[in-house]
Amino acid sequence: MTSNQIQPSHAAQPLKFNPFDPEFHTNPYPIYHRFRHESPLHKISNFMGDQWLLTRFADVKFVLNDSRFCIDDLPKRLEQKSVYLKNNGEFSTLMQTISQWLFFLNPPDHIRLRGLFSNFFSARVVEGMRPQIQKIVDELLSNVQQAGVMDIIHDLACPLPATVTATLLGVPTQECDQIIQLAHDLFRVFDQPLSLQVYENLNQVALKFREYFSTLIAEREKKPKQDLLSHLIKAKNQSDKLNEDELLACCAMLFSVGQETTENFIGNSVLALLHHPDQMQKLKLEPKIITNAVEELLRYDSPVQLIARIAVEDVEIDRKTIQAGDRIHLCLGAANRDPAQFSDPDHLDLTRQQQHSLPFGGGIHYCLGAALARIQGQIAINTLVQRFSELKLNCHRLEWRNNIVLRGVNYLPVAFKIN
Ligand code: HEM
Repeated sequence: MTSNQIQPSHAAQPLKFNPFDPEFHTNPYPIYHRFRHESPLHKISNFMGDQWLLTRFADVKFVLNDSRFCIDDLPKRLEQKSVYLKNNGEFSTLMQTISQWLFFLNPPDHIRLRGLFSNFFSARVVEGMRPQIQKIVDELLSNVQQAGVMDIIHDLACPLPATVTATLLGVPTQECDQIIQLAHDLFRVFDQPLSLQVYENLNQVALKFREYFSTLIAEREKKPKQDLLSHLIKAKNQSDKLNEDELLACCAMLFSVGQETTENFIGNSVLALLHHPDQMQKLKLEPKIITNAVEELLRYDSPVQLIARIAVEDVEIDRKTIQAGDRIHLCLGAANRDPAQFSDPDHLDLTRQQQHSLPFGGGIHYCLGAALARIQGQIAINTLVQRFSELKLNCHRLEWRNNIVLRGVNYLPVAFKIN
């Protein structure tokens, strides 16, 4: 029996979704299998109304592509919270920032804003960044090479996406450290529910992001370059395409959503390879399989586990009625391990003939940065495996992030030899 199969102790317990449980963080897959098997459209009724947890691949894909489900109403819920707490809490900048993020926009605003980014994030343009990304990865690995030990998160997975997003947007790379911290902090907004104190802190983070980018935008207006920021400023100056608030919000969005997702992707992938030395060896001998390998690693331990939608009208799925207004949690992590879609889904096989999987969501909100994330993963993982040998885990216990949307470890110490 592998660790991902249902253990007898699990099977005996009542079926309960508790994403805050440390045991769940360590390995959510046995629980997902139980949900998919026993209650694939699982209704959770509480003070927030009726909510659903969907774990089957086909159901998750269906909801993502059906216009009777709209994006999550997080900005609205924040607004209600701020009205309720109006004498205590002030998070207007936070609300203003996230309400302009693509995640929370519906057409036509979604189409207008997404269109401004599409070119810069297209597979073709991102492919052109390969030499720059390779240079960043080479430098990061050179920094740790002599030591023979490194923390994959701190030394590679964290600085890489920040430096790449900074390069694309046109932010000076020496200022990345302060932005990484802000990006990490702001992403917590997805992690509900949070205390008033946390919201106030997040509001401060949103203010700092705003201040930082206001200064940079003022500089870039005087001296445009060939970067994404200059392109967006140009769009802003063509009045109806983008306003100042949207521009500031989008800059914060790109850093926040591209950071921890990619970090976890690289961390989870290296961890999966450490747990499967035969697969690591296969990649070392056949570096060409990296494109396929990255798809498999994204499926096997998806960095984004949970996303949400709201039903705009009553919808029947599998003889159950999801009512207008119900919130639906789509479990991408479970969908990507569904045996109805993937044979032997708990098995990591870097040469698996890839079926369509859902690590980047689907429908109109499909991840804007998917091509960029894939290429960063391909270069980081392949360079690590080719350049170092005898890569081994260098700690006894891993600490999983206490996050319900994302899945990843806080640190991943490894030891290695130089080839
Ligand atoms: C492996 C890394 C990544 C993963 C697993 C990931 C995953 C996702 C998922 C699941 C969604 C859909 C959310 C929903 O439908 O509710 C999404 C959307 C999005 N992602 Fe990513 N992402 C990654 C990297 C990036 C990067 C590097 C960027 C940009 C720098 C980025 C920017 C975005 C944006 C802007 C959206 C919203 C798109 C829209 O609503 O139209 N992501 N991502």
